[in-house]
Amino acid sequence: MVFFYRLAPSMNLDELHGLIQGTDEEFNAIYPKHIRRLAKKHWTPIAVAKTAALFLAKKRGTKILDIGSGVGKFCMVGAAVTPAHFTGVEQRTELFEISQRLSASYGLDNTSYINENIIALNFHGFQGFYLFNSFYENLDPRNGIDKKIALNAKLYESYGIHVSGKLKSLPSGVRLATYHTDEWIVPKEFELVYNLFDGNLKLWEKIS
Ligand SMILES: C[S@@+](CC[C@H](N)C(=O)[O-])C[C@H]1O[C@@H](n2cnc3c(N)ncnc32)[C@H](O)[C@@H]1O
Repeated sequence: MVFFYRLAPSMNLDELHGLIQGTDEEFNAIYPKHIRRLAKKHWTPIAVAKTAALFLAKKRGTKILDIGSGVGKFCMVGAAVTPAHFTGVEQRTELFEISQRLSASYGLDNTSYINENIIALNFHGFQGFYLFNSFYENLDPRNGIDKKIALNAKLYESYGIHVSGKLKSLPSGVRLATYHTDEWIVPKEFELVYNLFDGNLKLWEKIS
């Protein structure tokens, strides 16, 4: 099914900055209704996205990958508050298209989105990674985003092992932010630098 929704004609970066200073409810109103209702469970709160993005964006030009980018909320907030470049990879085409369209309509030129399964992505070339428990839907399909993707409990483990292996192969200095994510996915070469938001946001740096 294709959903049409209206984008205000005058949207620009100033408006996005205004939204970021407001509440999550106000921000989430940029999304169509059926996406908005998923926000509490599936899209990162603004305060968390800002904190994680500022940690990951070590310097201008840093490339950051959101592993399972949904409708692009983390990438959009990060791209508005830092000079880093945010790439989101998302397996659901509808969510990918929404993130692309909204980022373009707010004039963000430091975001890109890829409509792929994370398995297909090369992690080299990125210096920062964000992971908001993307694979958990395989363990809890009743609270899933939609029924368009085949979910399977075994995928939770296999995607986690896959991402963990890719993170392990990266050079030291790479940063990672995990939100509501099991720690076994984080390779032991990553040191915990900050533990925030009641322990739900963990900020890591690869030290060896
Ligand atoms: C919890 S949401 C987080 C969205 C976004 N990072 C944010 O914080 O607003 C996780 C997203 O990961 C996506 N996802 C799950 N497994 C994936 C996979 N194997 N490859 C790509 N995307 C995946 C889901 O479709 C979902 O949109």
